[in-house]
Amino acid sequence: MLSLLVTNIGELVTNDPALGEPPLGVIRDAAVVLDAGRVAWVGPSASAPATDDALDAGGAAALPGFVDSHSHLVFAGDRAAEFAARMAGEPYTGGGIRTTVAATRSASDSDLRANAGRLHREAMRQGTTTIEIKSGYGLSTADEARLLRIGSEFTDETTYLGAHTVPAEFADRRDDYVRLVCGDMLAAAAPFARWVDVFCERGAFDEDESRAVLQAGVKAGLAPRIHANQLGPGPGVRLAVELDAASADHCTHLSPDDVAALAESSTVATLLPGAEFSTRSPYPDARRLLDSGVTVALATDCNPGSSYTSSMPFCIALAVREMRMTPAEAVWAATAGGARALRRDVVGHLGSGARGNLVILDAPSHLHLAYRPGVPIVRHVLHNGVLLS
Ligand code: NIG
Ligand code: FE
Repeated sequence: MLSLLVTNIGELVTNDPALGEPPLGVIRDAAVVLDAGRVAWVGPSASAPATDDALDAGGAAALPGFVDSHSHLVFAGDRAAEFAARMAGEPYTGGGIRTTVAATRSASDSDLRANAGRLHREAMRQGTTTIEIKSGYGLSTADEARLLRIGSEFTDETTYLGAHTVPAEFADRRDDYVRLVCGDMLAAAAPFARWVDVFCERGAFDEDESRAVLQAGVKAGLAPRIHANQLGPGPGVRLAVELDAASADHCTHLSPDDVAALAESSTVATLLPGAEFSTRSPYPDARRLLDSGVTVALATDCNPGSSYTSSMPFCIALAVREMRMTPAEAVWAATAGGARALRRDVVGHLGSGARGNLVILDAPSHLHLAYRPGVPIVRHVLHNGVLLS
């Protein structure tokens, strides 16, 4: 593999304050050397070492590839009609999950793979170079394992979400379903998963059920994360902290105790503003979390029900406009924050040794990610040191 010099970067966000101006470790007139899939050197263009190949960024801004730490990419069908009904005033309850489960169960492997591949390419074109993918639209032993096997063709960050909702055939036997999720289904899913997740919410799984699912997953070698406090207040965030989950996701309805518990923990609060946008719901209070010292990540939650966007730039723009995060906080949360939420230290920054994941914008500054919403602002994406066309 040839070494590549990316040069003439007008503003480089490294996310490493030791390398440049805080808070994002910005270097002006910068260059990056990528070698063997990794960052080999970062510094001022003028002192860059010789390499085999070069890419001129033309004075544009560059930053680490986005880390989308929460998506549900393996599914069939869409729920555009449900979205239209919501925009006409219907509330979001999560009840539509069963519609997607029915479509997903009857889809072939190759259809599911093609749809996930389409969304994965769409995400990468918009700068996502690390993505987490959940199961959760199979809800049978064979289908959950199948969704994770397909998801693992796209990423190492796969999450078993057998506890997404109780499927219709278990409607009056929910205890049996939780036993299945913690037993045979988990055994079939675990070889294809790194993480275990549960939708801890009124109408989905309660505190005891959620604890049982996450503890069973941990026993099977998976690490916990959780859908928590999305639709109303609840025990999810406190459970995440109790189990040292890597991330509590959504965090829309939090009590002062929830915020304090997160602040004292190493659990990241992953905010998913695409979901509030698409369900026309109040956004989480990002300022309260940040000002209390909680580590915040941003992710898309890409799924056909509550947030059908694969765009991290769109989520950054929402975070800045609707959740009052500064552009720097939002960019950090979409890169380094996502890496923390996945407990990976080789992505989300551009220090020497990091993965060669770099986004070059069609803009002079990272500010434009929020300032120019809805435009195709990503010009080039380098993934493991390779330029995507
Ligand atoms: O993260 N909250 C639960 N799961 C998804 C939505 C799933 C759906 O509506 O299909 C979410 O928002
Ligand atoms: Fe989700």
